[in-house]
Amino acid sequence: MVTPPLPPAKASADDLLDWYDRHRRALPWRALPGTTPDPYRVWMSEIMLQQTTVRAVKPYFEKFLTLFPTVSDLADAPTDAVMTAWAGLGYYSRARNLHACAKAVVERHGGVFPADESALRALPGIGEYTAAAIASIAFGLPAVVVDGNVERVIARVHAVEEPLPGAKPLIKRLTAAIAPAERPGDFAQAMMDLGATICTPKSPACGLCPWREPCTGRREGTADTFPRKTPKREGVPRRGAAFVALREDGAILLGTREPKGLLGGMAEVPGTVWSSDHDATGVDHGAPLPAAWKRSLGTVTHVFTHFPLELDVHVARIPAGTDAPAGLRWVATTALGGEALPSVMRKVVEHGLAALGVDARQR
Ligand code: ADE
Repeated sequence: MVTPPLPPAKASADDLLDWYDRHRRALPWRALPGTTPDPYRVWMSEIMLQQTTVRAVKPYFEKFLTLFPTVSDLADAPTDAVMTAWAGLGYYSRARNLHACAKAVVERHGGVFPADESALRALPGIGEYTAAAIASIAFGLPAVVVDGNVERVIARVHAVEEPLPGAKPLIKRLTAAIAPAERPGDFAQAMMDLGATICTPKSPACGLCPWREPCTGRREGTADTFPRKTPKREGVPRRGAAFVALREDGAILLGTREPKGLLGGMAEVPGTVWSSDHDATGVDHGAPLPAAWKRSLGTVTHVFTHFPLELDVHVARIPAGTDAPAGLRWVATTALGGEALPSVMRKVVEHGLAALGVDARQR
């Protein structure tokens, strides 16, 4: 008699947690096994890790904990100090929300993060994912945490044919069906680690996976084709001009962007609006002050979430003693590290100073 094949094993939280106990990543915000997590560190890391890699976040996390050791220190800090410390990490509304959230925790909750998913969700910058992550990781509450890593793992284990983002509710239900009552925070982080180190977007290391037996994607040889995705439209490219004015005493002209919107409240060199029909022919159209403006060779490019940007950089040397036009200020190039300059503006400044023949090492 032929024995019928055994049904495939089910993906179990125990198998995943056993794997996590052996292979968990040592990350600066994680509590060591057996120690109590600090909600401030967990919250800080989760905000920084939204749309940003672990590798990019690590130095910023350490810097913020040094500059602002407690949520009250952060709440009391001047906005400029927070924005400047965040500069380079991107998605700057996160920094404004981080600051607003610290203040709200102090004002509404006496400086103690609430151990409750819906109270967390009511705080600035904390959405569904982040509230669930903090609830489970910091407080051990049974919240279902689904980030991009978890979506990939679950879509593969169950060979979910429905494309993202439509498949999110289904993936959440499938995750909830595996999540354990005990150690919810470790389970969430184990899923993240599995997604980051084994069940990677390309070439997943299925042979090393604790769920290699129950995974339908692996069994059918299609793991790396999941998750299915609805094709997204690329944004329309925008273009603009930026003006690097270098005064003879070594200062450059900076302004501050409007508080709301893209890069809100961050520092910038003056420039035109960025638009899809920008006319790049006029050399000094939109220049902040009259000078012998020259268009530098090449352009600075930057990709935002919703559109790619290309900036023409115009440069000029300005006589010593020239006052800053209204709303702008002169900042010594040696003091640029203390400015909340986003990455795109750092690129513009580097490009402009190089075009003016200023060697980065002289600064
Ligand atoms: N990505 C988001 N949160 C994370 C965490 N707690 N550990 C690792 N990666 C993460």
